[in-house]
Amino acid sequence: MESWEIVGGARLVGEVRLTGAKNSVLKLMAAALLAPGRTVLTEVPDILDVDIMGQLLTRLGAQVVHDRPARAVAIDVPDQLDHRADYDLVRRMRASISVLGPLLARCGEADIALPGGDNIGSRGLDMHIAGLERMGAQVSVQHGYLQAVARQLRGSTIWLDFPSVGATESLLMAAVTAEGRTVIDNAAREPEIVDIANMMVQMGAQISGIGTSTLTVEGVDVLQPVHHVTVSDRIVAGTWAVAAAITQGEITVINAFAEHLEIALDKLATAGAHVDVHADSFTVSMDTRPKSVDIVTLPYPGFPTDLQPQFIALNAISLGASLVTENLFEARFRFVHELARLGADVQTEGHHALVRGQPGLSGAPVEATDIRAGAGLVLAGLVADGVTTIHEVHHIDRGYAGMVEDLQRLGATIERVRHSD
Ligand code: EPU
Repeated sequence: MESWEIVGGARLVGEVRLTGAKNSVLKLMAAALLAPGRTVLTEVPDILDVDIMGQLLTRLGAQVVHDRPARAVAIDVPDQLDHRADYDLVRRMRASISVLGPLLARCGEADIALPGGDNIGSRGLDMHIAGLERMGAQVSVQHGYLQAVARQLRGSTIWLDFPSVGATESLLMAAVTAEGRTVIDNAAREPEIVDIANMMVQMGAQISGIGTSTLTVEGVDVLQPVHHVTVSDRIVAGTWAVAAAITQGEITVINAFAEHLEIALDKLATAGAHVDVHADSFTVSMDTRPKSVDIVTLPYPGFPTDLQPQFIALNAISLGASLVTENLFEARFRFVHELARLGADVQTEGHHALVRGQPGLSGAPVEATDIRAGAGLVLAGLVADGVTTIHEVHHIDRGYAGMVEDLQRLGATIERVRHSD
């Protein structure tokens, strides 16, 4: 058990380097199952979810070696795979559902434990299921498992009700070796989807429309294993950008693509920050108290829900009031009760939050309820007067490799505290 103790007040100054995106690498690892042989992924973040996905792939028959110093994962995929993803692993990580498409494509069947809900909401699978059914799969739910069977997936035209990241990925991975043409309309177009599509193209898949909301896939018979560099983590990048603004500091984020964060960086500029964009990095600096900014979360290229708690933390100490609208995950405002312990004034009503900026916050014990809520609380703790102790930090470690050490290098006063209970 570990908690983090932060003494607020330091101005963060310096450089941080990003590794690959959690929400990309987990899917890239699943996509590796599509091709027998050795796939090597680089810029892999050293986070627990990568280990859990590694264990899942191992259970399915692959051999996975994670070389942490080299930031690389090698996955050796056999000709024959097991097709069952058990509850004990799936319950630890919702992204386990990403093996559904590849297993169906490779084995003609997949049994995946239902991931269930989590702290940010219920998260349905109806679009994954409806899309696979249109491609000829028979899908049922029995004894807590989603069971899908399709001896040969067939290309089809699929209109998603909503540009779901997970459903777009599942259908894309199922379509690449399906018979004929698949069109996925109203597809998600997050940079992580572009990354997985690009990797599958490298593997021999035929996909057009990458980065747009209409993906067209011509099925091919076989795919080859590849070496692929994971796209860098735009949400970690955005979190550092807010850290610079909230502490009135100056942080350069290296290996970052500002074009993946356009709206978020624009919001920081509106709040009063200076944003300098370079080829593969950007610098955010701030020399006054920020101004409150309204935000509305939407699928990419809209404002990312995964940066909403960090911006609520920023608004909590900004000048004026702001309205934050959350359109993706109904329970993502739960963390404002924790933020209130630090003195934040946030009133929620359905999917809206009214944040009235305070001149300051005061340190207190708080609990991270999920990865991004945890990041928001760290940011608030950095500016709160006195000591903020963050509990349940294992949530933060799932998405931010070495965050404490990065914060220390930037000048924050923060320590990991280990407890025996
Ligand atoms: N939804 C359905 N039915 C479906 C699929 C989705 O109702 O069949 C709903 C969900 O319940 C949710 C919304 O659609 O309300 C968005 O779901 P989406 O499928 O787009 O998200 P996801 O694939 O479950 C990924 C990221 C999330 C990120 C969202 C949105 C991974 C592992 N997770 O989730 O990341 O917030 O996209 O960008 O890629 C995080 O990193 O903290 C995180 C939660």
